[in-house]
Amino acid sequence: MPRFTINGHTQQVDVDPDTPLLWVLRDTLGLTGTRYGCGIAQCGACTVHIDGVATRSCSVPVNAAEGAQVTTIEGLSPNGDLHPVQRAWIAHDVPQCGYCQSGMIMAVAALLKEKPQPTDADIDAAITNICRCGTYARIRAAIHTAAKA
Ligand code: FES
Ligand code: FES
Repeated sequence: MPRFTINGHTQQVDVDPDTPLLWVLRDTLGLTGTRYGCGIAQCGACTVHIDGVATRSCSVPVNAAEGAQVTTIEGLSPNGDLHPVQRAWIAHDVPQCGYCQSGMIMAVAALLKEKPQPTDADIDAAITNICRCGTYARIRAAIHTAAKA
């Protein structure tokens, strides 16, 4: 049975080791903030952190997370405060339908950890998530605001 740490808590899950991590998060653990979009690692709606690295959980078997620290949108700010990226998202009124946004926020949080002052080129290279509502301009502005926080 795969065992990993999810949002600071150790979990052992009784599933086939090949089960996509996204299904385990949503269906086994009830962490539905992580979304299913395409299922083929293209849209980024399912982005979580595995040992701090932004990862598309629809395309990673749960056994790949064995022994790792997995963070979802529910655990991004473990002390209950909003993460700086979430605060910037609110300030810029980023979401429209919201479907893509948890994956976006997780991707951006990982980017800012690696590059605290990203350029537009850095953002273009790292944030390849798809937003069908076209919130890209506000996302870019919010990233720059979060970088100053
Ligand atoms: S659902 Fe995973 S990348 Fe689209
Ligand atoms: S806010 Fe609707 S898909 Fe991004």
